[in-house]
Formats: sequence, C-alpha cells, structure tokens
Amino acid sequence: MASAAPGGVVIVGSGLIGRSWAMLFASGGFKVKLYDIEQQQIKNALENIRRELKSLEEAGSLKGCLSVQEQVSLISGCSSLQEAVEGAVHIQECVPENLELKKKIFAQLDHIVDDRVVLSSSSSCLLPSRLFAGLAHVQQCLVAHPVNPPYYIPLVELVPHPETAPATVDRTHALMTKIGQCPVRLLKEVDGFALNRLQYAVISEAWRLVEEGVLSPTDLDLVMSEGLGTRYAFIGPLETMHLNAEGTLNYFDRYSESMKRVLKTFGPIPEFSRDTVEKVNQAMCMKVPDDPENLAARRQWRDDCLMRLCKLKRQMQPQ
Ligand code: NAI
Repeated sequence: MASAAPGGVVIVGSGLIGRSWAMLFASGGFKVKLYDIEQQQIKNALENIRRELKSLEEAGSLKGCLSVQEQVSLISGCSSLQEAVEGAVHIQECVPENLELKKKIFAQLDHIVDDRVVLSSSSSCLLPSRLFAGLAHVQQCLVAHPVNPPYYIPLVELVPHPETAPATVDRTHALMTKIGQCPVRLLKEVDGFALNRLQYAVISEAWRLVEEGVLSPTDLDLVMSEGLGTRYAFIGPLETMHLNAEGTLNYFDRYSESMKRVLKTFGPIPEFSRDTVEKVNQAMCMKVPDDPENLAARRQWRDDCLMRLCKLKRQMQPQ
C-alpha cells in the first residue's frame, strides 16, 4: 500500500461516513487514502465503494466527470497513518463519536503533520474547543460536519476552534465546494452546531403537540413531509418569510405579533416521558416495523427519494 500522492486527501476511519467522504473526494478528482485501525474495515470499504459507485452510475447519479473506474482507481487503502498523511492537503477524521478517541487521533496527527495540511473532524456534536485543545497545529483544525447520507445531502457545517486560522476555514470551504458539497460557516462554535439546533427545536415542538394530544404522531409527520418540508427542500425559513409577504420587512410588520403570541405558548423542554415515547414508537412501527429488514428497506427508499431530489435540485438551480 503506497503513501498519499501530493495534494491527496486522507480519511481516518473507513466506516459509513469515511466511505461517503472517500466517494465525494474521488468524484472531485482527489487521490484518497483510506486509513482504519481495522484492516478488514478498509477492505470492506473499498469493496463497498466500488459497488456503490457502480449502482450510482446505473442510476445516472454518479457525481463528477470521471468514470467509475477512474474514481475507484483514485481511492486506496493505507495501513500506516504516518505514510497516509505524507503530502496530504486535507485529513478528514471519521472515527466513532467519542471525545477521548478523537482527541487521541488528533494528538497522533499533531505529531506527524506539517504546517500546511488541514485537520478536519466529521464530529456531529463535539465542540472544537474540546476536540483540538492544546494541539500545536490548532490553527489548522476545524470540524466539517456532514449530514447523512452525505452523497445526497450536500450540507457541511464548518465549525472553527477559537484559534482556527481564517485561511483554514477558507481552504476547507473551497475544497467542499469543489467536490460539490454545500459548506456553511459557523462563525463561532455552539453546542449542536446549526443543523441539530434547528432539528431539536422542531422535535421539541413536535413532541409537545403529540404529548398534549393535539394531533397523532402520523399526522404530525405529515405536517412536515407534506407541508413545511416540501418548501424547505428548496428555500430556508428566512427566505420563506421573505416570499410569504412583500419581503421580510413587510412579513414582520404583518406577522411578528402573532408569531410572538404563539411562541409564548411553547413552554419548557419536553421530558420525553416513557408514555409518549411508547405512543410514538407504536405509531412509527405501524408504518415501518422496527426489525432490521424493514428499517433497511425504508432507509433504501429514503435514499432513493433523496437521490431523485438531488437531481431535481440540480435542474432547478435559478438561472
Ligand atoms: P462508524 O462506526 O461507521 O465508523 C467508524 C470507523 O472508525 C470504523 O471503521 C472503525 O474501525 C474506525 N476506527 C475506530 N477507531 C479507530 C482508530 N483509532 N483509528 C482509525 N480508525 C478507527 O462511524 P460513522 O457513522 O462513520 O461516524 C464517524 C463520525 O462521523 C462520527 O464522529 C459521527 O458522529 C460522524 N457523523 C456520523 C453521521 C451518521 O449519520 N452516521 C452523520 C454525520 C457525522
């Protein structure tokens, strides 16, 4: 197994997210080195990636302008972290969400990298100030949080440590854009980043409406999938307001008082009581029984929908 070519990308951890990153970077023409502590994981990842790329091609959803063969040949395994990072421009850490484990990996990397490479974590919710504390190369570190499945959901949240150099964020922003992802910059770290804070706000109110018996779990989900969510696939909540009146100023003139009135009725954080958890679970299992086969089939359907939505969104880019 050879070392990384200059300008290549290293993936540390070849699980679900590591594999997706490898496919995305290869679609952008980057040489990718996959590293993992488990040799078998690397082998599985390479096989899985080859299969995935083939079926994406068959579905007309392969990203980038290289063929499957060209993309596959850009990705290789590496059993030595030291060799893998030689000459790399970007290292994307994808090990399990465990602060101590990730800190150990970044301490290891800190000893073997030069002053130019970007050290990026895929962490869903660990704060950069904790992940990168005390590292000599802290200016080169940031979180680049993808959304599952990253091949179809382009958002990447870039979250800096207070000492991250602006150039590190700029370079990562440019790299993510180059591979077809949609990076957003958090100007400072916050627990949950932006995506999960918005997601939890929605879950919190969904829970309250179900718990208080306002509507059933099934109908609650329809409010999102057949209502709010259809718009949100194309425009965010702020632009929604802008378009729902004669611009933002007019929206607030018209609706801010009624919004405040309703918001005041929201109440405290739900306790997620066992009774409501069971009620929601029962309703969800009516639709999707929670055995591995049914869950896997539904996830496959979800990913097919996302793949088609991804295509539609590309066609619908404003001129
Ligand atoms: P996973 O469990 O599928 O893969 C983790 C991989 O890391 C495994 O292949 C494992 O062998 C390897 N690993 C463990 N210790 C290692 C070490 N010391 N050195 C090198 N490799 C090691 O995990 P997954 O789901 O891919 O998650 C990875 C990261 O991505 C986590 O931080 C997670 O929070 C984040 N993330 C996950 C999302 C998801 O939906 N699964 C979405 C967005 C971010």
